[in-house]
Amino acid sequence: MDIAVIGSNMVDLITYIDRMPKEGETLEAPSFELGCGGKGANQAVAAAKLGSKVMMVTKVGDDLFGSNTIQNLQKYGINTEFTSKVPGIPSGVAPIFVDPESKNRILIVKGANQNLLPMDINNATARLKECSLIVLQLEIPLPTIYRAIDFGNEHNIPIILNPAPASRELDFDYICKCDFFMPNETELEILTGMPVDTEEHIRDAAAFLIGKGVKNVIVTMGNRGVLWATKDNVHRVEAHSVDAIDTTGAGDAFIGCFSHYYVKDKDILSAIKMATGFAGLSVTKRGTQISYPSKDELIQFVKEKESSLFKGC
Ligand code: RIB
Repeated sequence: MDIAVIGSNMVDLITYIDRMPKEGETLEAPSFELGCGGKGANQAVAAAKLGSKVMMVTKVGDDLFGSNTIQNLQKYGINTEFTSKVPGIPSGVAPIFVDPESKNRILIVKGANQNLLPMDINNATARLKECSLIVLQLEIPLPTIYRAIDFGNEHNIPIILNPAPASRELDFDYICKCDFFMPNETELEILTGMPVDTEEHIRDAAAFLIGKGVKNVIVTMGNRGVLWATKDNVHRVEAHSVDAIDTTGAGDAFIGCFSHYYVKDKDILSAIKMATGFAGLSVTKRGTQISYPSKDELIQFVKEKESSLFKGC
């Protein structure tokens, strides 16, 4: 097994809107789509689509959504040995609103994801020990995240922590035990309490985390690209220019793709560049998992972008 994603799954209820309704107003929206989402499942699907062997430790609800989520993970070849239904509890859902500028607003109702407990990690240890990377987000209980981090440290398995959605309760000591900390700008602002309006601010906030002992801080900044900070260096990778129609799940696309290439080649900068391309392509289509490109599409896109850069020199 290459990658273990220990995290969430949701059913995405995506409404494409012209604008948000005002209080007391009923407003017609142009369209709606139902899809499989959840930050954990999105990251698992992204890595699996690129060819990684992925297992997912997650909890689904005791409803039609739950069965559909399991089938969906299996469709992408993801190991669901440690994906189970919680009796009497509904699946997690995410009402999402996407505006004409492709920006999203997301609500999450965690449902069965709240029932993913430290004990579920203990039950999966034999299989988890085979993995080369553990990927975590914050849509499951914090004690489960902490157990996963301890497990990774005990077995020398690198850990990516995506602090999404941001929680001020997240223990800094645990952040420092992870190999990669991957927030977006909003999460970085909430977690450090520092401004992130300019790139200088973002560098300062990342430096603050590095000063606390975090090894790699990789900040995803949407169409401004990615900033990767370590104690020795700061790298910037520019985003590709694309016609964005829906940015939902782009951060998850980045993390899933990064995970795939990091496990494959152990080259962080090159994994960031591939993940930037993968996330860039994902925003050109609607939805979350269904917007993720194939490996061939990604390679073609990255080649085209590289050759156009070369022509511009
Ligand atoms: O990051 C996007 C995801 O956030 C959506 O798929 C939604 O389910 C929420 O978890």
